[in-house]
Amino acid sequence: MTAGMQITNTRVLISHIPEGVAPNKDHFRAETITVDAPVLKKDELLVKNLIFSLDPYIRHEFPEGKIESLVTGFAIARVVSTNNENFPVGSLVFSPSTWETYTHFHEPQYIADITMLDGAMDPSVPLPAYNGVLGVPGFTAWDSLNRIGDLKAGETIYISSAAGTLGQLAGQLAKRKGLRVIGSAGTDEKVSFLKNELGFDGAFNYKTQDRRTALTELVGEAGLDIYYDLVGDDTTEIAIDLLNPHGRILAVGILLIHQNSEPYAPKNLINILFKQLRYQGYIVFEHYGGLGRFWEEMTVLVAKGEIKYTDTVLKHGVEAIGETYVKFLSGAFQGKVNIQVAEV
Ligand SMILES: NC(=O)c1ccc[n+]([C@@H]2O[C@H](COP(=O)([O-])OP(=O)(O)OC[C@H]3O[C@@H](n4cnc5c(N)ncnc54)[C@H](OP(=O)(O)O)[C@@H]3O)[C@@H](O)[C@H]2O)c1
Repeated sequence: MTAGMQITNTRVLISHIPEGVAPNKDHFRAETITVDAPVLKKDELLVKNLIFSLDPYIRHEFPEGKIESLVTGFAIARVVSTNNENFPVGSLVFSPSTWETYTHFHEPQYIADITMLDGAMDPSVPLPAYNGVLGVPGFTAWDSLNRIGDLKAGETIYISSAAGTLGQLAGQLAKRKGLRVIGSAGTDEKVSFLKNELGFDGAFNYKTQDRRTALTELVGEAGLDIYYDLVGDDTTEIAIDLLNPHGRILAVGILLIHQNSEPYAPKNLINILFKQLRYQGYIVFEHYGGLGRFWEEMTVLVAKGEIKYTDTVLKHGVEAIGETYVKFLSGAFQGKVNIQVAEV
């Protein structure tokens, strides 16, 4: 694409969502505009977005002001025009992209977050996996467990939202390290999947079973050593009661809060002192330097099917991303959700 050419760009704009209101399809508006292709300054590039990743955190990227604005998520994209020697035309990249056909990267902080996929990819692994099990969610599960989990064989770990992208991988990684793995999910099908497909030692449906009773029974006399928290609700209080001395809570996800709920403050935090527990948070953005090691270790396991994952690849235009995102937030899917908007 050269200067002077025009591009036709479909983009999704989101309007202000009042506090306490869940997003619905009327909050999104799509428009198609034809504009001049940008003249790229040094380091800038223009990509065509191919496969968007739907992630729960995007909910927090929605604008706070009253003016409509673009939404930024992650996407696998192809470079169509470049003034950046690290990303030649034709390269496949993984980047924080706006919900539109073409994204013009001009802000240094976004350019810094573009990752080259050519060379890192295994051709036997489907490309959308680089949004999920081999993308930021997978890396988060791997890195958080390695960095702050202090996993020991024989210990018991409980994972909330275990059938989601992070939960599936966290559970399998903990199994590979010899831990006893318990998980919870929101449907009986997901619970069977955890036990029968992923080899979890125990799982329960947090929507139909009493969480304290179910978790207490599954943990049994051995007690709990690690709570891998992806939800941020009052389950933390139950976990604190069940944790053994020197147990750990890994605060990694806040699924409850993505649905506009108040964060829950556990009332038994005093037990952190009595049981000498560690309650630690983790944010992936500080740790991207480890992506290379993650791919080195995990790509082969995913390619051989030794690490399993489920994902959904929906094929539709950019204009319907908002509507699909609303459905996604309701928990309608299992594992990673991708929207493919163009042929690769
Ligand atoms: N700390 C970091 O750096 C970092 C990095 C990446 C992701 N995260 C966070 O990790 C969490 C999980 O991400 P993910 O990519 O694994 O999500 P995901 O694959 O999109 O999984 C979402 C699933 O979570 C379950 N869920 C939704 N609301 C829930 C609730 N209130 N209580 C329990 N389960 C609920 C739903 O399944 P059910 O049918 O089981 O309810 C839903 O399908 C998110 O909060 C995400 O923002 C954190």
